Amino acid sequence: MGAPTSLIEQDIEKYLVVHQNKSLLRFITCGSVDDGKSTLIGRLLYESKALLEDQLSALEGDSRKFGTQGDELDFALLVDGLSAEREQGITIDVAYRFFTTERRKFIVADTPGHEQYTRNMVTGASTADLAVILVDARKGVLTQTRRHSFLVALLGIRHIVLAINKLDMVGYSRETFDAIDREYREFASKLGVEHIVSIPLSALRGDNITSASANTPWYVGPSLLQHLEEVAVDAIGAAGPLRMPVQWVNRPSPDFRGFCGRILGGRVRPGDRVRVLPSGKQSTVARVNTFDGDLAEAQAGQSVTLTLADEIDISRGDVICAAADPAGLADQFETTVVWMNEHAMLPGRPYLVKLGANTLGASFGQPKYLIDVNNLDHLAAKTLALNETGVCNLTLDRAVAFDAYADNRDMGSFIVIDRLSNQTVGAGLLHFALRRSQNIHWQAVEVDKQARARQNGHKPCVLWLTGLSGSGKSTIANIVERQLHALDARTYLLDGDNVRHGLSKDLGFTDADRVENIRRIGEVARLMVDAGMIVITAFISPFRSERRLARSMVGEGEFVEIFVDTPLEIVEQRDSKGLYRKARKGELKNFTGVDSPYEIPESPELHIETLRSDPEDAATGIVDYLIQHGVMNAAG
Ligand code: ADX
Repeated sequence: MGAPTSLIEQDIEKYLVVHQNKSLLRFITCGSVDDGKSTLIGRLLYESKALLEDQLSALEGDSRKFGTQGDELDFALLVDGLSAEREQGITIDVAYRFFTTERRKFIVADTPGHEQYTRNMVTGASTADLAVILVDARKGVLTQTRRHSFLVALLGIRHIVLAINKLDMVGYSRETFDAIDREYREFASKLGVEHIVSIPLSALRGDNITSASANTPWYVGPSLLQHLEEVAVDAIGAAGPLRMPVQWVNRPSPDFRGFCGRILGGRVRPGDRVRVLPSGKQSTVARVNTFDGDLAEAQAGQSVTLTLADEIDISRGDVICAAADPAGLADQFETTVVWMNEHAMLPGRPYLVKLGANTLGASFGQPKYLIDVNNLDHLAAKTLALNETGVCNLTLDRAVAFDAYADNRDMGSFIVIDRLSNQTVGAGLLHFALRRSQNIHWQAVEVDKQARARQNGHKPCVLWLTGLSGSGKSTIANIVERQLHALDARTYLLDGDNVRHGLSKDLGFTDADRVENIRRIGEVARLMVDAGMIVITAFISPFRSERRLARSMVGEGEFVEIFVDTPLEIVEQRDSKGLYRKARKGELKNFTGVDSPYEIPESPELHIETLRSDPEDAATGIVDYLIQHGVMNAAG
């Protein structure tokens, strides 16, 4: 490409200095599949001369092969890097691209528009200062436009450019432009985005991309590139108090202990007083060290190693804060959560939450409401399905340092990870800590589990029977209790059908209700184990997640998972309650084994194949297991 960038040719040293000191704007582009987003980015890159010659010649070749623009360059091909996308004509992942002009450097996150890719959109938006939202002038404001604007606002982006594209297709009509602009502003006013600029564009023809177009004489605002170069955005978090989550403790020798991490808020200088959370211990910064040596000051965005004047205990995940203005510390929050997985968020189900450098056990309460992205109405809901956004309380398994998202985007946002698949299934923002978590304290009691166990003459535990309806759980559980009772053990049997007459009377058989049912049983079993008893439970408990939850509620060795394994064909043949027949006829919904899943235990302590042993023998096997594992003595 022949276009000379004058400064780089005349004085490369000076060029590099200027380049280094240019400010950086991170922005995200969002639009529906055919809004022309890739063409827009391609044109920005081309016109800002960011393309290298080899990319350009490849583009010419590809344009002839795959392009939709005849002999002209197809800019969309430049951006749609993945071959799968080319073949399908869609964009399927977040792509980050760098380009620069004389005045500014840019990183653009290009995210796809179809509904199932909310996750990419959230990823792209979480680091952006500005969003370019494309609409097709012929179609105007669509559900997609509203969804993207909502997410962008939710993620704290305060600058929106409404790129009203394909204006050439509507004869560069000012009326069309004005009508879309009006409709959009009316919607966006409810989102609280402060800065909205609408620009009439044709990415394909190049109108108002880098310079004012003669086709829109009625438009007096800036071109897109001019606006991107000039818009003033604040450095994220730099204005607030110091926050530095410790990623790693560096201890190369006994006399050096450095705390490494990225500053997520404020500034730090040697001599600053700091407070470390969660311990609350205080010290003074001795040195601010980097790879290039010591600094007099560092600020949000920089990665540094801090050394402190005092020897205090700090580990990974702790947060070093300004002593006078520390972060909060809590384990329960109100949050906004965006769900990104086909499997809905189920209240009470155990998930992992990654917040800063910490990964914690977590669960959500039932959504207080969902937000309808079209009109921002609040809707009632029991779960959060794919792409839904709702406000829910979050409980973590220990207290962590945090800031509200409104105060610090990095300290106040988290991702949700599924415990079994390890996939990212949601993203969320912290609103505030729930006060109830600060006002409820664990009361120490004098007579404890061990004392009760001594009096009972056996250890407490949970015998957790799981299996299909009709597999024989209740029958076996009954015999186990009878045998244990004969050995003088203190027992209690919690049975599925019985519990559903009382404790879980309000619950049905949806996934969410089953999760809640098992959570309650787990809590009750925990209390009974604490009371020193041998608790026998007989519930289908079809999900691994909740069986694992119940296991985690009691101590090591106190949970005995027993898979009562009877093949579906057999239980269905017997059909002692006539429920399988009803389910097959469609008269009973969500029936386990028919139209609701049963997840087989992967490593139960005991596996009972009911076709091989009768219930008496199976029960004796369970009691023997308890004797062998020292829960009780053969003599009782
Ligand atoms: S669980 O899934 O939440 O563990 P639970 O063991 O309490 O189920 O209840 C199962 C019993 O409820 C079954 O044995 C059956 O008698 C009855 N039942 C009624 N409807 C259903 C259904 N849709 N799926 C499974 N069991 C059902």
